Amino acid sequence: MSDFSDGFLWGAATSAYQTEGSFDVDGRGRSVWEDFADRPGAIEGGGDASVACDSYRRWPEDIALLEQLNLGAYRFSLAWSRIMPEGTGAVEQRGLDHYERIVDALLERGITPVVTLNHWDMPSALMACGGWAARRTVDAFAEYADTAAERLGDRVPWWITQNEPWIIQLLGYQLGLHAPGVRDLGAALAAGHHLLLAHGAATDAMRTHTTGRIGAALNLLPCIPASSDPADVEAARGSDGYVNRWFLEPLLGRGYPPDMRAHWERALGRNLDEVIRDGDESRIAGRSDFLAVNYYTHRVMQAAPIGPDRPFPWQVVADPSAARTDEGTEIVPESLTELLLRLHHDYPGVPLMITENGAIYGDSPTHDGRVHDVRRIRYLRMHLQAVRDALAQGAPVVGYMHWSLLDNFEWALGYRPRFGLVYVDYRTGDRIVKDSARYYAEIVRAGHLVEWDHKRPIGQVVDSLGAFG
Ligand code: FCB
Repeated sequence: MSDFSDGFLWGAATSAYQTEGSFDVDGRGRSVWEDFADRPGAIEGGGDASVACDSYRRWPEDIALLEQLNLGAYRFSLAWSRIMPEGTGAVEQRGLDHYERIVDALLERGITPVVTLNHWDMPSALMACGGWAARRTVDAFAEYADTAAERLGDRVPWWITQNEPWIIQLLGYQLGLHAPGVRDLGAALAAGHHLLLAHGAATDAMRTHTTGRIGAALNLLPCIPASSDPADVEAARGSDGYVNRWFLEPLLGRGYPPDMRAHWERALGRNLDEVIRDGDESRIAGRSDFLAVNYYTHRVMQAAPIGPDRPFPWQVVADPSAARTDEGTEIVPESLTELLLRLHHDYPGVPLMITENGAIYGDSPTHDGRVHDVRRIRYLRMHLQAVRDALAQGAPVVGYMHWSLLDNFEWALGYRPRFGLVYVDYRTGDRIVKDSARYYAEIVRAGHLVEWDHKRPIGQVVDSLGAFG
């Protein structure tokens, strides 16, 4: 018996900036990430994404990999600056042509495209007016979304407008650790709101071109109190408001949560009416056909005094009992089950697609030329089991996209972290299928969880992978 329905979308995810390279090709404009990467020390190891996985040129290989791994879906993103090099106005047809070729190649192979519009690489030109901190960027994004949907809307069945607005708000505009490198709490609040407003405006613009389903991807982090002390319980609730509910509630029709709004108003020393204007919440609500969920870990929360570097009265503390990835991320698959059940309960009827889940493990090829990433196999198995448990309890999960198909440029951390099912040799661009990918392919083919048998001859495990053995 199958644990996952026949139509369940099994896939893998990437994003344009992290994989494409070829910055100066086909009229692409500059993005905020090039500007940011130019700052000394901004990127660990000093690298940049000008080559990355070379996927702008090697995309047919990436699609062949998806096919050989039996995957039925591919989540990738369009680079705004390839389509509208200046952010608005002139359209670069060669950029659209490129993505059209990818979409068509996927469809020919029976692979469903899941297309993200903003995976962080906004055109630099839009920073002249403040980027996401500026309200007029909402219109620019709607224009870009309209253009992309006009060309691809008849063929792309799943669209994701924004990837992780909280991360853009926090790392891009509050802490300055990601592009555009702004450190300003007021700008962060505005950026987060404009990202949601832009989701609404983009969706309205796209509807005339597509019957595809449109949603936004949130990285949701269940917040657990560090103790039963009511102050810690309150800290966990506050953090849940900051990270999760601030985005979930307006997107899914309830408006901004008042408790978190009060935290923001206290932290900024003013009310939010100038940024969150009358009528805005109704421009965000009711525009999501599904919710895209990126899940990596939880946050254990403790009460903490506010201060110059802590605008809100809580802090994350380590969970000493949790296993960790090579980057120290706590591995808590059971929180994924709880999260999916909570979403099912709080927002009934909203289909859920897991659009990212994965881990950093640094395994590289061994004596036999293969990558025996047994910890990723274990991680994958535990998280798919967590999805299966949520499905068994009724959560409407429609798909699972592993992050990532390929090792790639991991933003400010550069190339050190390896998230891929497929290893990338950055000197040559060669792709090497890791054991985890073979295992995933076997699960997908079976339609249910299977055990990994490392002794089984490769040919029997995934015969279609012969070319990559
Ligand atoms: C997410 C991003 C994705 C990748 C993973 C590891 O926050 O959406 O691009 O960096 O984390």
